Amino acid sequence: MNAKVKALINDQINKELYSAYLYLDFANYYETAGLDGFANWYQIQAQEERDHALLFYQYLQNNGETVTLEAVGKPEWERGDNMTPLKKALEHERYVTSLINGIYAAAYEIHDFRTMQLLDWFVKEQGEEEKNASDMITKMELFGGDSKGLYMLNNELKARVYSAPSLTL
Ligand code: FEO
Repeated sequence: MNAKVKALINDQINKELYSAYLYLDFANYYETAGLDGFANWYQIQAQEERDHALLFYQYLQNNGETVTLEAVGKPEWERGDNMTPLKKALEHERYVTSLINGIYAAAYEIHDFRTMQLLDWFVKEQGEEEKNASDMITKMELFGGDSKGLYMLNNELKARVYSAPSLTL
C-alpha cells in the first residue's frame, strides 16, 4: 500500500477507538444523571465506533500491512447540561467526516481504487452519523425541556439495539 494512505488508515484506527471512548464517557455521564436511555444510546454508539476501528484494522491486515496501535487519549469535553454531549457528538462526527474525506482524497490522488471502495461505505456511514447526531439535538430541543418529554425521549432511546455493521471484509 501507499505509505501515506496506510499511515492515515492506521491513524484512523486510533481515532475510531477514541470516538468509542468519548461516547462511552457520554454514556457514563447520562448513567450518572439517571437517563438510562441516553446512556444506552451512547453505549451502542461506542460499540459502533469500535466496529469502525476493527474494519480499518482488518483492512490493513488483509492487505499485508503492519498495524501499530497507539495510546487512546482521555475523552476531552467539558461537562455542562444534558444537551452538552449531544452537541459535542455532532461536532465530533463532523470532525470524523473530515478525517474520512482526507483519507479518501489521499487514496484518490494515487488511484488506490480498493481503498476508495472501502471508504465509500464510511462516507455514507458518516452521512448517517451526522444525521443521527443532529436529530438527537432537534429532539432534545423539542421535547427535552420538560420532565415528561424528557422521560418519553429517554424511553425511546432505551429501545435502541446494537446491530453489526453492514460492511464485512
Ligand atoms: Fe466512526 Fe461515528 O464515526
